[in-house]
Amino acid sequence: MKQLRNLSCLLSCFAGITLAACGGGAAAVSPANKPPRAAVVPIANDAALAVFQSRCMPCHGMSGHGDGPGAAACEPKPRSFADVAWQDSVTDEQIQKAIVYGGAAVGKSAIMPAQPDLKGNKATLAGLVNVVRAWRGK
Ligand code: HEC
Repeated sequence: MKQLRNLSCLLSCFAGITLAACGGGAAAVSPANKPPRAAVVPIANDAALAVFQSRCMPCHGMSGHGDGPGAAACEPKPRSFADVAWQDSVTDEQIQKAIVYGGAAVGKSAIMPAQPDLKGNKATLAGLVNVVRAWRGK
């Protein structure tokens, strides 16, 4: 059962991408809900933002609140990066570990997928950490 649920979360997250790419998602990429960058995210680079939009946004959402198009099918829900208590509880190293090795590697849900190809890609990983950190609530 658990496996099935993970699959439906993954499927609906990534069906979300297809929908967005097919025109239904114009709102999802409007300037208003683009990930924060420039002044707010000093070392978030274009590569990191591109990775976020294609691989993370479907679950974590363009606003970083864990409300991407496929999030409803995920249990647990994708992490909201606006959660201050969570931001204060994790190190940059843990965030990078969760990204490269997946949620299970940091004691969280395996629904959070591993991105093994990013291993050793310091610039993109640092950029992703900055994207995640920039959504910290006040
Ligand atoms: C299939 C949906 C999905 C995708 C795609 C996804 N995540 Fe997640 N992510 C989750 C879920 C669900 C959790 C919550 C896990 C938990 O709390 O047990 C999570 C948790 C996290 C966490 C918190 C880890 C911790 O230690 O608390 C970070 C950081 C994160 N994701 C970043 C990313 C980034 C960056 C990407 C893109 C490279 C990404 N996620 C892609 C579903 C996803």
